[in-house]
Amino acid sequence: MIGNWKMHTTPSEARELARELRERLDGIREADIAVCPPATSIAAVAEALTGSNIAWGAQNAHWAQTGAFTGEISTSALKELGCTYVIVGHSERRHVFGESDEMVAKRLARVIASGLVPILCVGETEQERQQGQTDEVLRRQLELACADIEEPPAIAAYEPVWAIGTGRRAEIGDVETVHRFIRERLAARFGSKAEGIRILYGGSLKPANVADLASSEEFDGGLVGGASLSAASFAELIARAIERRNH
Ligand code: PGA
Repeated sequence: MIGNWKMHTTPSEARELARELRERLDGIREADIAVCPPATSIAAVAEALTGSNIAWGAQNAHWAQTGAFTGEISTSALKELGCTYVIVGHSERRHVFGESDEMVAKRLARVIASGLVPILCVGETEQERQQGQTDEVLRRQLELACADIEEPPAIAAYEPVWAIGTGRRAEIGDVETVHRFIRERLAARFGSKAEGIRILYGGSLKPANVADLASSEEFDGGLVGGASLSAASFAELIARAIERRNH
């Protein structure tokens, strides 16, 4: 279960939120838990979470090791800050900032080479869905994102763009179908190396709507935006998912 804090929290707010999460989630071993604060808050979060069962990560990383790339963030800096994960190809990067599949591929290759764990995001827009292009879009995003790598990304996230921040979580049947499709595409590309890949769902995931997904074999976890910004709701979401999984 990974919280994507997007551009929310200043360093002091992030420290507070991380401390509260640590209190609420202390001792949970049934789920791998992480938060991805804005880059400017990673150091504060690292300080608050060191020695806990909660890992942390970044929301993006550049493909070069260092250099003249104003505004970008290097994987070596993220490693020094103790990050485990890096989100790659989030739809807000693709659609708001115009990141191409080629950029996503280069970022993904660097993250893997650096030893950080990528969370490769893919997902169709509302229009693409209505036009019946979901499979085609996902196939393209996966194929192009993986163009420069020999090892598959350890984690992929299916995030339908129309479900992000809208309150409209995708239906379980659609999530299962797409997760299966992603697994098949990655298996076709990477063979047996793709076997352990974990596939997360993201898009308006909340404590109140996690249970049916959590009971599905196709759901390996969630990438959670809005509901991860309150320690109470993120903790409740994780607790409900674990409870459902165990029954
Ligand atoms: P949301 O965002 O949970 O607020 O819909 C998910 C995401 O963008 O990762």
